[in-house]
Amino acid sequence: MAGKGNTGPLKDARIAVFCSGNGSNFEALVKKNRRLAFPGRIVLMVVDNPGAYAIERARRLGVPVLYVDPLAYENKQEYEKTLYKELRLWKVDLILLAGFMRILSPFFVRKYKNRILNIHPSLLPSFKGASAIRDAFEYGVKVTGVTVHIVNEGVDEGPIVLQGALKVSEDDDLMSLEAKIHRLEHRIYAEAVNLVLTRSWKIVKGRKFVLCD
Ligand code: GRF
Repeated sequence: MAGKGNTGPLKDARIAVFCSGNGSNFEALVKKNRRLAFPGRIVLMVVDNPGAYAIERARRLGVPVLYVDPLAYENKQEYEKTLYKELRLWKVDLILLAGFMRILSPFFVRKYKNRILNIHPSLLPSFKGASAIRDAFEYGVKVTGVTVHIVNEGVDEGPIVLQGALKVSEDDDLMSLEAKIHRLEHRIYAEAVNLVLTRSWKIVKGRKFVLCD
């Protein structure tokens, strides 16, 4: 049982995955969900880009797609209000950002406090931003990895749920490193979702994700 200030478990969660591009994490999550790697159900994909290959994957997998065009709104808050309204209609409890190339405002983040996760392709807090794999590779790191974190009002800086590390070998080029990172992401994201949905946890000092069961 969750104590005061604790969250979870939430085994019947209705889950939405937000994408903008390729959608490989989305596909891995749906497949893992169907193999019961984590509870709850992915009920919806949200996209901000009608050309995203992720949409094709969703069709193939039979997951409904919600496209809301951000350019059709006067400002971010109006766009996010529409998103929020739709998510309520779909009764979404948990949001998984998976290559969603848009920064959610404090307005939206507060509506889903501690209920939005993101995956980032580096060991945060190193290499924040949109070109993390390339930045780490060009920096010459010997170890890199992936981070699943709770989304707070900052960018790439919410409490860390889970990280996975891998070695960069002498033979790696950017392409091979990207492939390794994506393979690791596809495993770690489902593990992190499972933790969040099946365990009791809290955020200590606004920073640390701590299991408490
Ligand atoms: C992943 O590397 C993820 O870490 C980052 O965006 C990429 C999305 O890839 N946030 P995909 O669309 O899931 O294939």
